[in-house]
Amino acid sequence: MASKEENNKKKWKQDFPYHKQNSDLVNRREFAKMLTFVSGGLTFGTGLVAAKANLFPKKKVVGEHLICAKSEVPIGGTRSFTLKDSDIPYILVHLENGTFRAYEQKCTHLSCSVYYEPGTGHIICPCHKGVFDANDGAVLAGPPPRKLPKLSVIERDGSIYIAAEEEKSTI
Ligand code: FES
Repeated sequence: MASKEENNKKKWKQDFPYHKQNSDLVNRREFAKMLTFVSGGLTFGTGLVAAKANLFPKKKVVGEHLICAKSEVPIGGTRSFTLKDSDIPYILVHLENGTFRAYEQKCTHLSCSVYYEPGTGHIICPCHKGVFDANDGAVLAGPPPRKLPKLSVIERDGSIYIAAEEEKSTI
């Protein structure tokens, strides 16, 4: 009579059949081929993303756009928005000092969606722990290579408008 341990071993082999002669089917050459195929795919994908960014540069924001009433975004609150004819996500932040800021809501590292952490003055990217200064979009920590693209915020008659950030002269 087989012991309980032997029965368990038999059952395990039935559930996970392993044929030693088949284990040699994946040899080094095939493994190297698979690695080449995967890395080639990754390179191709990265190239496509880079080509898209260069061939189809994003549209510039033209003119002013009404976003919402000032009272709709409490202090420490945010509002996500897109502009007409654009799929770029933006985030409007009402900072604790009472001012408003607006940024692209895509991390400059790998385009994850960022969010404002109330009370900290930080905009966070959850993907790789990127941290941006909510006051000017500067990178404070993590892998993002550039600050968050910023929009100008205009407060007028109790409403919030945004416009393209004015380019600063370097002269
Ligand atoms: S995508 Fe934001 S830190 Fe990597």
